[in-house]
Amino acid sequence: MLTVDALDVFIQASHILRSVSLDVGPREVVCLVGRNGAGKTTTLRTIMGYLRPHAGRVEFRGQPIHGRRTHEIAQLGVGWAPEDSGIFADLTVAENIEIATWTRSGGRPAAERIALAYRVFPMLRRYAARKGPELSGGERKMLSIARALALDPEMLLLDEPFEGLSPAIIPAVSAGIAAITELGHSILIAESNIHHVPESTRRLYVIERGTIVFAGAAQDAWRDPSLTRIIGSAA
Ligand SMILES: Nc1ncnc2c1ncn2[C@@H]1O[C@H](COP(=O)(O)OP(=O)(O)OP(=O)(O)O)[C@@H](O)[C@H]1O
Ligand SMILES: [Mg+2]
Repeated sequence: MLTVDALDVFIQASHILRSVSLDVGPREVVCLVGRNGAGKTTTLRTIMGYLRPHAGRVEFRGQPIHGRRTHEIAQLGVGWAPEDSGIFADLTVAENIEIATWTRSGGRPAAERIALAYRVFPMLRRYAARKGPELSGGERKMLSIARALALDPEMLLLDEPFEGLSPAIIPAVSAGIAAITELGHSILIAESNIHHVPESTRRLYVIERGTIVFAGAAQDAWRDPSLTRIIGSAA
């Protein structure tokens, strides 16, 4: 579904990503785990076409997408929920979701995609008429994921979907993420808190100072003392 191959990314003179490779298969939840500043957001932003790699390739469904513009990548079926939610503050919840259905044509009809976004995050229906500033941080996170879902993407990139959420709201977001994979979408999650890695994650990558230091089964990562020093332990 998504293949990232040996990406090197510079921001100004700093070499931020060093030969980063990862892949996400159909209906898979994959986590990219690493400490603050490790390069998770940079990896997702490069996949989304906000940053151009100095070297390496990104392929989506067998097609090279590195060097393409962000809106073209979204059109091809990659949805993105950024770290800071990135919702339109002047628009209501309903308008934020609706606007995504204009961004990508084809696929399921708009009404179906909107219904799907609310089915995954039922809490949002209650707030449909509220604008961004009238939502809590957790509600904004849900809206950001719901909006990406309304694109009807094959693949979703979620940047720290649990960051700043209270323990009370985490199960609602987790259930939403599980529902998304059950619908057949693939998900790549960037996460700095190992305790937030969803149970549905079978494979994960650990990134440290711009380099992938582990790729494999989640349960193997928890057993590796050199990794638990970096990412903490799951227990
Ligand atoms: N616009 C920028 N200009 C300069 N350096 C940047 C810029 N954006 C990111 N960096 C640097 O790139 C490195 C990786 O940042 P990135 O945002 O990818 O980390 P992250 O793993 O997402 O961290 P976090 O968990 O804090 O979100 C950091 O050292 C950061 O300071
Ligand atoms: Mg980040």
